[in-house]
Order: sequence, then structure tokens, then C-alpha cells
Amino acid sequence: MWRCIARGLRGAASTTRSTSSHPLGSHLCRFFSSGVNSSYTVVDHTYDAVVVGAGGAGLRAAIGLSEHGFKTACITKLFPTRSHTVAAQGGINAALGNMTEDDWRWHMYDTVKGSDWLGDQDAIQYMCREAPKAVIELENYGLPFSRTEDGKIYQRAFGGQSLNYGKGGQAYRCACAADRTGHALLHTLYGQAMRHNTQFFVEYFALDLLMNNDGTCQGVIALNMEDGTLHRFQAASTILATGGYGRAYFSATSAHTCTGDGNAMVARAGIPLEDLEFVQFHPTGIYGAGCLITEGSRGEGGILRNSEGERFMERYAPTAKDLASRDVVSRSMTMEIREGRGVGPLKDHIYLHLNHLPPDVLKERLPGISETAAIFAGVDVTKEPIPVLPTVHYNMGGIPTNHYGEVVTIKGDNPDSVIPGLMAAGETACASVHGANRLGANSLLDIVVFGRACANRVAEIHRPGEKQKPLEKDAGQRTIAWLDKLRNSNGSLPTSKIRLNMQRVMQSNAAVFRTQETLEEGCQLIDKTWESFHDVKVKDRSLIWNSDLIETIELENLLINACITMYSAEARKESRGAHAREDFKVRDDENWMKHTVGYWENEKVRLDYRPVHLNTLDDEVESFPPKARVY
Ligand code: FUM
Repeated sequence: MWRCIARGLRGAASTTRSTSSHPLGSHLCRFFSSGVNSSYTVVDHTYDAVVVGAGGAGLRAAIGLSEHGFKTACITKLFPTRSHTVAAQGGINAALGNMTEDDWRWHMYDTVKGSDWLGDQDAIQYMCREAPKAVIELENYGLPFSRTEDGKIYQRAFGGQSLNYGKGGQAYRCACAADRTGHALLHTLYGQAMRHNTQFFVEYFALDLLMNNDGTCQGVIALNMEDGTLHRFQAASTILATGGYGRAYFSATSAHTCTGDGNAMVARAGIPLEDLEFVQFHPTGIYGAGCLITEGSRGEGGILRNSEGERFMERYAPTAKDLASRDVVSRSMTMEIREGRGVGPLKDHIYLHLNHLPPDVLKERLPGISETAAIFAGVDVTKEPIPVLPTVHYNMGGIPTNHYGEVVTIKGDNPDSVIPGLMAAGETACASVHGANRLGANSLLDIVVFGRACANRVAEIHRPGEKQKPLEKDAGQRTIAWLDKLRNSNGSLPTSKIRLNMQRVMQSNAAVFRTQETLEEGCQLIDKTWESFHDVKVKDRSLIWNSDLIETIELENLLINACITMYSAEARKESRGAHAREDFKVRDDENWMKHTVGYWENEKVRLDYRPVHLNTLDDEVESFPPKARVY
């Protein structure tokens, strides 16, 4: 039940950790939960646009919206510069042509091939064509790129990148700031965002979308973690930039905060998630610790070797070798280990050698991973190899969007029906520019290109200050009841135990190699884990910095992503990109060149499919027909 107790307040939130003052006209109510004797303070805000997430995609969207004059709120569960973008190392791809001749069409070809022809070619064209502009914009924003002798942006070799449509040898297309490119990019964008009028709501946890009965998104409801107040942010445009869900797995390079919150919000709103079966394993996570060792280390000349000292990638990818695409390298490493050629006492990992590289190259180009290897593997990279293992790194799937960043769903005969008011960018989105396998250094590109695309699209279809339809009377009510139930959960299982079960199931049943048996078992086990969530216990009942509650919400979000991932993988009877089935070893374009869409309905997964876009945007490039993918 709602009871409004004041109007026209500056709002409870004016004393919070928001980095700027709150708008006038906040509307303060209390919501009295019926089941349990608790009440919640609810503060209403109205903006032109609300961005959820303050990593690279969210910040770039927010900058663009503010530049276009839209009153914009950016809601983030973390302080912006703690977002996971900060962990990106190797760089950002763009056909700048600083090291050799280059062409965005060659970059597009590599991306389509890397995606194993599951990527939407119109979106890929858009991203690769925009790439040089996006990188120069970052340079102008002040990003401290590494430089060549003559002062140009330095570009390194990266996996799956070629010249002249695969016929011209290795491309040097990855612009970088040593091996801390994400750190440099995130801080640069945050600095730019500070120049504008974006209002940041820091340490606010977005809980759910506010969907109107006509299917329009009208904003989000969020919890201020500091004081437990709830906030309904109404906006004509809502942009989700909440990142991936790597933490559904036991060993991941992703931060503990990568819990698929945006994906889960969308799934709870009845909108499907696309291609979740495609989970990227990065070849070089540190054995045991899981920390990322950048692909840039192989781009600078690093080599993978097995227990016999053999550079085994020569057998699997004779041309690209260690710089084949990530799915290929991860599978090759796994095969070496399975066949008894792994290193270490248990023969269960592989060595990455950098010790043949000149120490000054390591110092200048790879200082970050040199330090990481010393801390987490106890290795001096100038002398010893780093023990590495394929580790979960990225979700190719996510919220389906078109190349403008608008969220799409299947409606009747239309597989590309736009959901009014809702957009997504970055790892949470599936544009789909990565298809079945993302190429390294296309992620930092994706976030800036599509963050900006979202802002531009909003500017095309809306005006600042545009009048908005009022929220429905009960908007957010279901979410508050759900939050209240979770907060008062009194089962027998701690959140951490259920989370560990989920992570173990995902790690062993939706792994680098998959079979019908492992996936069917995975579906049963993940269902059981979901069931066990009904018996969760939240010990802390308070609303002030209740990390027990927050982790429980994050666990529910992860579980929704995990369930859809497992069922989507079980259903896809082919091998494509990162989805490698031992019982269906080849790509089957006739039956499976289509995007999976997974709905979360009544706590169960329902699957459907939508076509891949094989068309390009215009005649600047022709589409690339499918062919065998060899490196
Ligand atoms: O290996 C890396 O530096 C990771 C880059 C990426 O995932 O794009």
C-alpha cells in the first residue's frame, strides 16, 4: 500500500553519496508491505534519460546525452572508476593504419569471421566503421595512449586480426595504453562526464525496470544502499550498461560485481535474453587465481608451451598460431591438458612464456601483467613462464539490441520489434557484434561505440524536457514486495553456499567442451540450485549497507542468467564459436544460424529463435557469406 507523505521535496537522497545535488520536485512516499510489518521510503525523480551503470558504456552514453542537453541520471552500484572496465588490459581495435595500411572493412571481415557468422553484419559494419573516429575521440578526451617513435598511437597485434580479408598476414590494430587500457579509458571518460551535467547516483542498486502496461519502459526502481531508501527514476529513455555475469562461474577474470543485474531486470520484465550459451573463456587466466594476463602479451611475442616445451599452437592454427581467436586457443590448450601434456604436478595447466622478450619491452608494454604475475603466481616474467588456464572472461550474449542500441524482441512476425524507451550497451547488450565469439579488444570498442550510439538515438527521437506519461499508480510495487520478501528470507541456506553450488555447476557443466550428457545434467543441477534459492537465509534485516541482502539480490540475478545459459546451450546442437559440442562437432548453418532468445517465465526457461542479420547497412561494404573458419 502506498501513502504519500510529502511533495516537492528535494528528497531524502539529497544527503546521499550522489556526486551532485538532486533535482527539485522529488516526490516522497512510503510503501507499507502487507506481508511483513515493514515500510519503505520511496523517492520519485524525473529525468529525460537514466543510465544504469557507470563503466565505459554507461559513461559514454551519459556524456553524449548530457552533450545533447538531456537531463540525465547515471545510477551505479559502484563508484564509477571501480566499474569492471577498469580491468581491461590489452586495448581497443580500430583500423587507424598507424603501423601498416589498414581498412575498417578488413576489421569487419575479421569480426564476422571471429563471430563464426552469428554476428549481425549491419551492427558489425557500424562498429568497425565508427572505430577510428571513436579512438580519436578518446585521444582528444585525453586518454594517454602508448605511442610510436613518431608520436602516433601505438597499435599492437591481437588475436584474430588480419589484413586484406585474411590474406595479408597479421594486423596491428589494437590501440593501447600499455596493458592498462581499460583503466586509462574509464578514468578519461569519468573526467569527461564530470565536465557535463550528468547527475550521478553512486552506490544505488538498480532493482527492476518500471514497465508500463503498454510495454513501454519508463525508468527503473533502485535501492540507495547507504540509507535503504527506494528511488523511482522515471525517464523517457532508459539505457542499461550493467556489464556481464562472469561471476556465475567459479573461475572468472570478471570482478565480483559482474552479476548480470541488467540482464536479470530485463528477464524479469518478460523480455528475452539472446545467445547466452556463448561464454568466452580467455586462454590466459592465471592458474588458480583466475586473474587476467592480457592477450597483448602474446601480441608482443609471448608463446604458449606444453609440458614437452612444444609451441603447440603451430599444430592447431598454423598461420595465426598463438594469435588465433580465443575460442580456438582455449580449446587447443584444453586438448593439450586432456592428452597429458599439461604442466605442473597435476599436468593441469599450460605455460605462457614471456621470458624470451626483451626486458625493456616487458617494462614498457606489459608492466601491469608483470606485476600481476609476480603477485598472484610468484613469477618473475623476465625469467620464468606464467602458469595459465582458460578462464571465463566475457558473455557474448545479453539483451538483444539493434545497432542503435534499442532493445528488440519478437512480436508477432517481427523479430526486431523495438521496446519503446529501453536501450542497452556494452557487455550486457547483444547487438550482436560478437556473435558466437568476441575478438580481443573489440569490447572496449563496443562500449564506446554503442554507448555513443544510444545517446545519438535518443537525440534523434526525443527532445530535452519532453513531457512524459505519468507512472502507473502501482509502479514498482511488485519489486518492493519482492525486496521485502528477500530481506526477510528465513530459510536454512546462506547465500554463499547457493552461489558456490551455482558456480560449480556452471564451471563443470557449461565448460569449454560440452556434450548432451553434461548439459542435460547441467539443466537438472541448475534447476535444483534455483529451487534451493527458495530456502535462502538473509541474516541481516537492516536497510543500511546490507551487503547480505545485496549479495542475495545479485545471486538471484546470476541464477536467472545461469539457467538461461544452460538451457540455451543444451538446445543448440552444433559447434559454433565458444559453444563447442563434442557430440555435434561442426557448425550447422542450415539449422542453427540463428540467435537463441531465452525467456524467464514462471521461474522456468522458454527458448525461441530470431534470425541473424546477414545484411549490411549500405553499399560501402558487401556482406561476408559464411565459410569455414580457419586460422
Ligand atoms: O586480453 C586482454 O587484454 C583482454 C581484452 C579483451 O577482452 O578485449
